[in-house]
Formats: sequence, C-alpha cells, structure tokens
Amino acid sequence: MAVELTIPVVMADDETLVQQEAVAIEKIKRIRPLLGDEVVILGHHYQRDEVVQFADFQGDSYQLSQEGSRVRAKYIVFAGVHFMAESAVVLGREDQVVMLPNMQAGCSMADMANLEQVLTAWAELEDVLGGDPTAQIMPITYMNSAADLKAFVGERGGAVCTSSNARGVLEWAFARREKVFFFPDQHLGRNTGKQMGIPLEQMVLWNPFKPYGGLTDDEIRNARVILWRGHCSVHQQFRPEHVDLWRKHHPDVNVMVHPECAMEVVDKADYVGSTAAIVTQIEHAPAGSKWAVGTEVHLVNRVKQRNPDKMVELLSPFSCLCSTMYRISPIDLANVLENLQQGRVINQITVPVAVRHGAKLSLDRMLAIPK
Ligand code: 13P
Ligand code: SF4
Repeated sequence: MAVELTIPVVMADDETLVQQEAVAIEKIKRIRPLLGDEVVILGHHYQRDEVVQFADFQGDSYQLSQEGSRVRAKYIVFAGVHFMAESAVVLGREDQVVMLPNMQAGCSMADMANLEQVLTAWAELEDVLGGDPTAQIMPITYMNSAADLKAFVGERGGAVCTSSNARGVLEWAFARREKVFFFPDQHLGRNTGKQMGIPLEQMVLWNPFKPYGGLTDDEIRNARVILWRGHCSVHQQFRPEHVDLWRKHHPDVNVMVHPECAMEVVDKADYVGSTAAIVTQIEHAPAGSKWAVGTEVHLVNRVKQRNPDKMVELLSPFSCLCSTMYRISPIDLANVLENLQQGRVINQITVPVAVRHGAKLSLDRMLAIPK
C-alpha cells in the first residue's frame, strides 16, 4: 500500500499546518522506536526544534561528518542540507542508505560554485602561473559544496574544511604549497587568512563570471589566497553597525559570530566560531552574562532557551533564517520514517562511484588533520 504524502498541495493557513505538524510529530514518536538501531537520525544545529528533537546526534557540520563516518546503522536520515547528506554518503559504507527528508533542502552558498566554473578557473590559473598548478596551489573547499567539487579537490591533493577547522586546514595547506585556492565562501577564507596574519592584499577575490576571475596576472602571481566570490545569504545580513548598536546599549555585551559573517563584523566581535563553538561558549559562560549572536535564528533561539540565566539575543534585528534548512519539517521526517517502516526508501541521496572516491580523499584528509 502506497504511503500518501502529507505535504499540503495548496498553501495551508498557519493553523492547518500547525495541526498537520502536530499529527506528524505524534507519528514520528510512534514509528521511531519501531525502527530501532537500523536507523540513525543526524541533525544540524540550524534545524527546527520540532525536527531536531528526534536527532540521535546533533552537531555542527564537522561533528556530523565525523559521526557520519562512524554510524553503524544501515539507514541514515539526515536532517540538514544536501551537501551534508552527500558527505555522509561519501564517508559511509557502501551498503548504507542516506536520506534527506526534503530534497529541496540545499544551500545557496554551495550553489555559488560548480565544477565547470572551478575547472575553468583552474585552467586559467595554470595559464597565468605556468606549469602544473598542483605544484603551487592547494585547492581547499568548504564543506558547503557539492560532492563533485570535493572530488576535484581530493584528486588534486587538497582537503575539505569546515567552519570549525579552517585554520588547521589552511596551515596544513601552506605547509605543502605556496598558494591556496579557497571556495566557495570568501568570508570564511578571508577571516581565517587574516587570523593567520596573511595581509589583505595577498588575498584576492576570484569572480567566476569574469575571465581570469577579473584579476590581473600580477594579482594572481602575488596572491597567497585566491578566494571564490561566494557567500552565505543568511550570515551576510549581520552588519558591523549591529555590533556597534549592541555595544552602545549594552557595553558589557559579548558578541559572538559565525565565521561566514563578513570580515568587518568578525573584526568587531569578541568571539568567532562554528555553531558547535557558539553552543559551548555560551553554555560555559557565567550566569548573568550577555550575548549577541551572529548566526542562524533557530540556533540562537535554542541557545537562549537553554541558558535562561543569561541574556542571549540575535545580533541583527532581522530574522536571519536559513530558508533551506527550514524546508525540513516534521511532516517530511514522518514521511521518510513511515515509508521506511513499510520497507520503502524515499529521498535517497546518492553520489556516483567516481565522485565518491575523489570526495572521500578530500574528506578523509580533513578528518586526519588535527583540530
Ligand atoms: P557549521 O560548520 O558551524 O555547522 O556551519 C555550517 C553552515 O552551513 C553555517 O551556515
Ligand atoms: Fe548554506 Fe548559509 Fe544556510 Fe549555512 S546558513 S546552510 S551556508 S545558506
């Protein structure tokens, strides 16, 4: 018997949707125990409470990839975005099945670089620098990228990085080659390079829509870091003026931001770190301390709820919602689990064998680099 999709075809009014989600939550509570150890649910910190409450493991993208490589269960339900589920496929066993509850849950930053553009850039860099680029340039891709870009990097001796280990990965890269080609997030690359003392003039911006990235030969030759012109639409909403405003009204506030924020914001912050670092930092802060946090709103709200003895607020007055993370609803999760219980796999994420091999090289290298 086919399981009916419970996703509303017409826009439901809020009340109907809340009721449907409440039904889905009850369904998950009923079905989840029946699936036992055969299934593991992994959840990213940006997921809604209604979804992440069912995660067997919750973490940042580094922790989730580490966990993904250790999971013994046959079925992994990934409450996160597409590139995270792909990485779980690459790091998992071949007989494991990874599912994304909503196939529309992508990442707009990951979509800002594709293989064709990166291959063009690599050929242009080769043209300017002469000789084999792998002798001079280490390609590093942020975790927020498609599996074929991870394979591109892996096949050229490079590694993946996340927001929690970018510095370690860049140090590893510079110990081996003189330049780094970093994609797709310019901000994580720039913030990390600056932290390492690399002058701004040696970090150039590669515009994939212009020949040779819009750079002169000299700019390419003198660069130590070539940054792809990509960004996160959520984190770019945080502005340095928001930090100023918080400090004006609360001189004792601590500002903590995610490294996907622009350099001007990171420079003004007291702390910078991944989603997991934000959770830990505030959890261990003294009672009564005040925090203005620059990252996705669901995580900030959760940290606020879990730390009632502290003041925790979103750094920006705007909502700063990751709309793609938000696409995964309890209705989607119930749908995947219900189908699984009835012996059907839906929304499976797959990675072609050749891509999988290359992507595993770059992910394994990342996991081997000490944090
Ligand atoms: P983390 O590495 O902190 O999990 O961040 C992932 C991400 O997509 C942030 O926007
Ligand atoms: Fe992608 Fe930004 Fe959403 Fe993170 S917050 S998943 S980088 S769009």
